[in-house]
Amino acid sequence: MHVDEQKRTILIPWVEKFRPKTLSDVVSQESLVSAMNQFLQTQTLPHLLFYGPPGTGKTSLILALAKDFYGPKMFKERVLELNASDERGINTIREKVKRFAQQSIAPPPQNYNYPCPPFKIIVLDEADSLTQDAQSALRRVIEIHTKITRFCLVCNYVSKIIDPIASRCAKFRFTPLPSDVGIERLRLICQNEGVQCGEEELAHIQSISHGDLRKSITLLQSAQRLFHDNITVNAIDDIAGIVPHRIIDSLIAACTSVSYDNLVSTLEIIRREGFSARQIIEQFAEELVISPEFSDIQKAQISYEVAKFEKNLMDGANEELQMKAFFSLVLLSCQTG
Ligand SMILES: Nc1ncnc2c1ncn2[C@@H]1O[C@H](COP(=O)(O)OP(=O)(O)OP(=O)(O)O)[C@@H](O)[C@H]1O
Ligand SMILES: [Mg+2]
Repeated sequence: MHVDEQKRTILIPWVEKFRPKTLSDVVSQESLVSAMNQFLQTQTLPHLLFYGPPGTGKTSLILALAKDFYGPKMFKERVLELNASDERGINTIREKVKRFAQQSIAPPPQNYNYPCPPFKIIVLDEADSLTQDAQSALRRVIEIHTKITRFCLVCNYVSKIIDPIASRCAKFRFTPLPSDVGIERLRLICQNEGVQCGEEELAHIQSISHGDLRKSITLLQSAQRLFHDNITVNAIDDIAGIVPHRIIDSLIAACTSVSYDNLVSTLEIIRREGFSARQIIEQFAEELVISPEFSDIQKAQISYEVAKFEKNLMDGANEELQMKAFFSLVLLSCQTG
């Protein structure tokens, strides 16, 4: 291999390198894969709406289906990938769709081994980031071009998709990948890339990724790059920004001691360690569920607050103030018990 080519191969993120190339590469999501196989056999396709958590194979599945439909030579001509959060507004989308749909459908080369049905596929990724108005406008765009195009809308939150759009599509729900499937996939990557990573470490990567395969593959690649053959559970936690148990425990102790001074000094120590507030609150919430220190009512009340504070942080609120406010509420809840 030429040196440049070698460099390029090394630089390819593994999530792309190991993205399924055909339907048979897609793991788990069996009922969805079998539905896609039926579309492939009958060479028909409704408009599709894929939804579910990140890293579960939504984009991969539609791209794999499209590759199986059109093969490498016709893929570019027949498939348009748009990212709703990149494209500025519905007008850009409308223009791109119009231009793409207007191009006539060229027949496949002779003896071409792929079905190449007589329609094009437009993948609109991250469709839930479109405003309601943009989605209303999209309704018309879908209708105008239905004859020779099929839309596949991909999103995380189906509740953000307006009814008139959802009702035009066949809906498919993706679920987080089961642990054993995720670990098996990581093992396969390790074999292919010559990574030395123990079973305990693979299981740990899987467990902190919560069924998000993109997250676990990226973690594995970062761990390999930084620690080579010395990947340990602690090293993985470090890269993933996981907060050590002792910190969560110290917060629980500060709140249950019902001393505000104690809480403030604990928060100050934690602030200096530089962990993300979202990660701390998320891990605290996980610990809360199993902690004997809190009653069921307290757990319910605090969980309700967790959701609110998570939203504040997502909206860009000040981390320090949010941490203080959140743990003050926990402390108050401990006092009133
Ligand atoms: N079911 C799966 N089978 C095989 N690989 C998968 C699967 N799901 C995810 N992956 C791996 O994870 C990567 C990310 O998957 P993909 O882009 O399809 O996720 P997604 O569901 O579209 O996530 P997002 O909602 O964040 O866009 C892929 O490149 C692939 O390597
Ligand atoms: Mg995607």
